[in-house]
Amino acid sequence: MPEHARDRAWTGNCAGAEAEPGQDGPVERRDDTSDERRRRAFRLAVRRYAGQVRHDWRLTVPGLLLPGVGSTLTGFVPALVIAAVLGHFGAGAPPSFGDLLPYLLAFTGAWVGGELVWRFAIHFVNRASTRGASQLSMAAMDALFGKDLSFFHDHFAGSLTKKVTGYSTGYLMVVDSLAFQVAPHLLPIVFASVVLWRYSPWLVVTLVSMIVLTGVAIAPLIVRRQRLVNAREAASNELAGHVADTVSNMDAVRLFSRERDEAAIHARNVERWRRLALRSWDYQNKRIDVVASPLYVATNVLGVVLAITLGGRGGTFDLEAVFITFVYYHRATQVVWEFNHIFRTIESNLSNAAQFTELLLDQPTVVDPPSPAPAAFRDGGVEFRGVSFTYPRMARPLFARLDLRIEPGERVGLVGRSGGGKSTLLRLLLRQADIDGGVIRVGGQDIASVRQADLRSQIAYVPQDPVMFHRTLRDNISVGRLDATEAEIRAAATAAHAAEFIEGLPLGYDTLVGERGVKLSGGQRQRVAIARALLRRAPILVLDEATSSLDSESEGLIQRALLAVMADRTAIVIAHRLSTVQAMDRLVVLDDGRVIEDGSHDQLLALDGLYATLWRKQSGGFLGDVRLGVRAAEPSGVPPLTVRGAPHG
Ligand SMILES: Nc1ncnc2c1ncn2[C@@H]1O[C@H](COP(=O)(O)OP(=O)(O)OP(=O)(O)O)[C@@H](O)[C@H]1O
Ligand SMILES: [Mg+2]
Repeated sequence: MPEHARDRAWTGNCAGAEAEPGQDGPVERRDDTSDERRRRAFRLAVRRYAGQVRHDWRLTVPGLLLPGVGSTLTGFVPALVIAAVLGHFGAGAPPSFGDLLPYLLAFTGAWVGGELVWRFAIHFVNRASTRGASQLSMAAMDALFGKDLSFFHDHFAGSLTKKVTGYSTGYLMVVDSLAFQVAPHLLPIVFASVVLWRYSPWLVVTLVSMIVLTGVAIAPLIVRRQRLVNAREAASNELAGHVADTVSNMDAVRLFSRERDEAAIHARNVERWRRLALRSWDYQNKRIDVVASPLYVATNVLGVVLAITLGGRGGTFDLEAVFITFVYYHRATQVVWEFNHIFRTIESNLSNAAQFTELLLDQPTVVDPPSPAPAAFRDGGVEFRGVSFTYPRMARPLFARLDLRIEPGERVGLVGRSGGGKSTLLRLLLRQADIDGGVIRVGGQDIASVRQADLRSQIAYVPQDPVMFHRTLRDNISVGRLDATEAEIRAAATAAHAAEFIEGLPLGYDTLVGERGVKLSGGQRQRVAIARALLRRAPILVLDEATSSLDSESEGLIQRALLAVMADRTAIVIAHRLSTVQAMDRLVVLDDGRVIEDGSHDQLLALDGLYATLWRKQSGGFLGDVRLGVRAAEPSGVPPLTVRGAPHG
């Protein structure tokens, strides 16, 4: 095999077969999935890869055939020429240059031709693997886009990233392995068999049976080794998962001086991985190779013995047969030696790919209807009718037959105790999760009957804890309307009172905000999120604690701006600070998944229910007497603060 091909094949093995822990392993603790599920995922990965090979057959067929031709020409034909020279001139006087010339030409021609074929082969392999990998990567991303939002709450971001990349790079490795390790052996074995047959069919029978025998002997061992590999990979994932978790929580690590504890956990994980890695590699060396290597040697010895015996039978010693047998046996049995390695590369890359395809086994539940109704939202009215909803793994329903109607253009404040279901109600309206019963209508249309994108185009949403793309402030504001002009972006930022701080930054709108927006304060993030929502110009504005991180003065300013914006829209505003929603047309009090009060501020005060109680506490001073009074009176369960060194009691 030419050097280039060898290099590539080798690189492929290193990167693909054994993902190094901590660097390359998927960043998630081992999922608690059954073996059957893993097998299904594995089969799906095989089907996806095979489908890609079939799809790109114009590239993959030559990419997998030509290496066989190339290695026959470079590795097998020249030996045949030498054998012919030995056959013709071995016993007689030294041949002249003229006698040798045709052989020399054939020898050179075959080799040069082989190299040429290899260049073409690699041309096709490069294209087949990159094309397949990029298409699989795009398909993987599409599959993620199709997932329910809850899916992303259940998986580490780092782990998903790893799985998507593993899925596409795995294909590169598998195609490389097939093209550079499998294909260059298969066709030459056929060629060698044809040549050897001419000397003696026994040479072929022996060669093929020994290869098959070795395969049969080591295959079960390799399968058994897989259990050890799985354990090692699980340990590697756990190791990487802990590193990712620690790094992303470095603030907490520092604050609580957890460095030593985290280092100890890391040391434990590393040690566990080391033990399991050693066990799987030792199994390779001490169990598999112990079986494979004697068979490898035995095959070659048998071949030479056979050639000598058969060659000597006619009375004259057949040098040619011995030479060719030795060379061909030696080359052909390399496949046995590499079988292990090839299997390992292909198997472990498919296992990696299966980590991704396992995510595909669960169908998303929030999907567009098969034939979506055309978007024809009459207005900005919202209606929840008989809505029931239970979070997965939640003991009882959060909402049971909830009814709530919001008229077009109405401005509604949604208030109530923490955990009452306010944010969830908005999530259901945005169809981030599907309801178990009842119907939600926007502008008279059932939100489950239209495309999700059509529904969401009607709603501008500022979430409770807005996160940002690690992009510029401009990009973060225009995320909901990519065609917005610079003037529109600035107008939205001004209305959201974000322009003040943005224009004070050295790079202004070109400032990068850090991962998830960490370089912005909570209040700045909220203002950017409001600007984003304002720019969207949707008929329904939904704010979930959108101004909770702002000081009262900024909140007052933004409130005024928002009220102006709400003039021609339906607005649903969640707030704990009741002064924020006091001026709304209507207040809805949600408690434990039920609407318990509904009316204007004055009506609810007159009702003297939960709202009135909350209001009194807040107007009594959010940080004032009421709260302190409660803390003093009620045991909190928090151990009393003792100052080190100070006398107790
Ligand atoms: N993704 C989730 N999976 C399971 N349960 C959830 C999930 N999100 C919220 N819950 C639960 O649903 C209930 C309602 O949560 P929700 O976030 O809607 O409350 P909220 O009224 O918005 O509270 P807050 O005022 O604190 O924001 C809570 O008991 C919460 O623990
Ligand atoms: Mg909430």
